[in-house]
Amino acid sequence: MSIYLDQAATSFPKPAAVCRAMNRMVTRIGANPGRSEHKLARKANQIISETREKIALLFNISEARRVIFTCNATEAINLGLKGTLSPGDHVITSSVEHNSVIRPLKALERAGVQFSQVPCSRQGHLNLRLLKKSIGRKTKLIVLTHASNVIGSLLPIEEVGAFAHSRGILFLVDAAQTAGLVPIDVQRMHIDLLASPGHKSLYGPQGTGFLYISQEVELKPLKEGGTGTDSESYEQPEALPQRFESGTLNTPGIAGLGAGVSFVLDQGVERIWKKEQLLTQRLLKGLKKIKGIRLYGPLEAGKRVPVISFNLNFLEPVEVGFILDDLYDILVRTGLHCAPQAHRTMGTFPNGAVRVSLGFFNTPEDVDALLRALSEITRTRR
Ligand SMILES: Cc1ncc(COP(=O)(O)O)c(C=O)c1O
Repeated sequence: MSIYLDQAATSFPKPAAVCRAMNRMVTRIGANPGRSEHKLARKANQIISETREKIALLFNISEARRVIFTCNATEAINLGLKGTLSPGDHVITSSVEHNSVIRPLKALERAGVQFSQVPCSRQGHLNLRLLKKSIGRKTKLIVLTHASNVIGSLLPIEEVGAFAHSRGILFLVDAAQTAGLVPIDVQRMHIDLLASPGHKSLYGPQGTGFLYISQEVELKPLKEGGTGTDSESYEQPEALPQRFESGTLNTPGIAGLGAGVSFVLDQGVERIWKKEQLLTQRLLKGLKKIKGIRLYGPLEAGKRVPVISFNLNFLEPVEVGFILDDLYDILVRTGLHCAPQAHRTMGTFPNGAVRVSLGFFNTPEDVDALLRALSEITRTRR
């Protein structure tokens, strides 16, 4: 059995309950939620509503209808950015963002939106003073990742949220690397828009994600169409969540996501976070002892998510990934991780780095196997 250390891309394996929920949806329910009145359609609809409610509970969202299902974090971020920004607006982001933030911002820039990127340190820390200095008269939104998917650093979203709120600026958080892993409270943290994948630390299947929209935000939909409601009207309904959920939803995926969120609620985010921190500590401690490894990002486990990037002195990252896969059956991700800006910040552009990302189902034995493999590779390839 392969040792899967690519959890930042998507979590694997999923809790057994996720597979059961999807199987039940496909084999026993099957109907289209919200399109018909019959009992199977009502059951499908109930599963969708329950998943929405569980997500609301996990992130302290006061109204579940403010959770909009998307097919991944990228779609949620696109909706958050393109739904709020208009030509003439200014938006601020950081230098460690994923392309799912940078590329929509570049597209918006061509349409007349201005954006500034606040430089982070090589360790991926955001300087709040610099962020505050970039605010201008036209600043409408700040968009930040909660944690870098390359450097692993956590960004100070609570402080930024309080500041944005005090200045009447909207705050969008990309929680791709933290939702389900690090506690997030949208009310306490003054988050207006929370974009999350369902398929990482919420343990749902691929093809799931959501955007939370606070009542402070006036958002334009990116698509219009059938919602199963107000069918007599040619106009998109105003009511949430239908305003943003045209077309048939990924009901089997959302059923699985519901079971994934239940798993997180049952385990407790604090407990999950502690468990993954212990694994991270073990890995960092072991990596520091291996000669010939350049380790990036914060060195203390409590200040980072379990995403650890490094390079070996005598091999390209892609070669390390290949050797780990081929000779040791250990699966990691190498290259630029869809975040060239983060690699520029870390000093590893254009070749990138080896990224190891741990998850709830990884064990100390997985970490030790990786450490043994890396010790051997560095000894024999020197
Ligand atoms: C920080 C960050 N933002 C956004 C995304 C995009 O997530 P998705 O693949 O669900 O669209 C990722 C994916 O790895 C990510 O790490």
